[in-house]
Amino acid sequence: MDEHHSLVEQLTRARNRQGGVAEIVLGGHRTIVVSEPESAHRVLVRHADNYTKLTRSHRTRVLMGDGLINATGAAWRRQRRVLQPQFTARALHRYENAIAESARATGERWAGHARTGRRFDLGDELTMFAQDVIWRAITGRPLDDEVARELASVERIVATLKALPVDAEAARKAVSEDLGRIDGLAKREIAGARAAGDRTGFLSTLVAAADRFPEYTDELIRDELVTLFAAGYETTATALTWTFVLLQRNPVARERLLAEATEPTSVAEALVREAMRLYPPVWLVPRQAVAEDTLGGRTVTAGMDVMVCPYLIHRDPQWWPDAEVFSPGRFGTPGGRPRHPGAYLPFGSGPRTCIGMRFALRESVALLDAVLPHFRTNVEHIPAGIAHGLTIRPDGPLPATTTFAGEGYLRGKPKMA
Ligand code: HEM
Repeated sequence: MDEHHSLVEQLTRARNRQGGVAEIVLGGHRTIVVSEPESAHRVLVRHADNYTKLTRSHRTRVLMGDGLINATGAAWRRQRRVLQPQFTARALHRYENAIAESARATGERWAGHARTGRRFDLGDELTMFAQDVIWRAITGRPLDDEVARELASVERIVATLKALPVDAEAARKAVSEDLGRIDGLAKREIAGARAAGDRTGFLSTLVAAADRFPEYTDELIRDELVTLFAAGYETTATALTWTFVLLQRNPVARERLLAEATEPTSVAEALVREAMRLYPPVWLVPRQAVAEDTLGGRTVTAGMDVMVCPYLIHRDPQWWPDAEVFSPGRFGTPGGRPRHPGAYLPFGSGPRTCIGMRFALRESVALLDAVLPHFRTNVEHIPAGIAHGLTIRPDGPLPATTTFAGEGYLRGKPKMA
């Protein structure tokens, strides 16, 4: 993690010395660091064709293969077109039940914690929630213990990703046992979805795509399955974790919002959006320049790496007054936040924008609505450090306890549906 901790310092220094478009050398590569909205918008949206995904590293490919995150060119366009209909506002209705059931299951688990007074790890709880939601959306079934154990292989690989050898073969070898477990699980699920022939869940969409496109081999379906799972849970769990941490550090912000709340949904969304401003789970969005371009008056030559940094943009006082203050009201009031489309980028922007954005916001709101009004949660220890890994997380465990708050409909024994 140190490598990345110093990376955020290095990027901040570059910004302070050179401004919103800076040039540094990272890992031996000339790299442009973008930390102002106009140039970020140019890279991700207006001139997106000139800034492709950085494909040099094989590391994420070891886990997610040619899934949507790693795909480029015509293959990416096709893959995006196949999955996009699952992520429209309308399609989200299909996943409402899965999200609601997951949120209720979490509420019931917390009611158990409240009744017994036992300590739990906040990050683990939220990870469990996010994994359950995405697994239900992918397969149509809740996450059971056995599958959860198998999916822990994904977590283990994600945790070692940065330390893997650059050589693809050597990297695969280093995590072959976990990869084997994931591949076995994927194979079983794909066969199951084929046999069931139903049409719910992302996986059945992918299996059905194989009828139309020969490219949808079982290998590609496996890659998409792992991509959706891996992209879907850690980011969301991280965003929720920071929401709780920030609420705990800023009880006034919470009280004020709860008191002023007329629509619980918009309150929860304002909370998680503001948490993602201060701690955008994906804090760096890397690209590579195809041809020469000019960004903020600086020449970007073909082949250069370009890092858009939502973390720095979100904390720029020029765009965000009192930038370091947790102030969810920014997202709850008209005119409360900058209008520039490049000033707030937790989900990226442009053609490669997060396909799961609506889904992520919906599940986050469902979780906060299931928990915040009913429990008073106390994180007993918040680590001082921040781990700037693939996502930004508190650097250590988050032991917490919870008690029933207010009327707390969950106070009694949970009713079975
Ligand atoms: C709070 C939660 C989330 C955050 C902060 C987040 C953030 C992001 C960002 C910044 C990107 C763009 C990366 C780039 O441009 O290089 C992205 C892409 C992506 N996200 Fe998310 N994400 C979240 C939740 C999800 C969920 C729930 C899913 C799946 C259901 C998902 C699936 C994806 C996929 C497949 C891509 C690649 C899209 C493409 O390249 O076409 N994400 N995400």
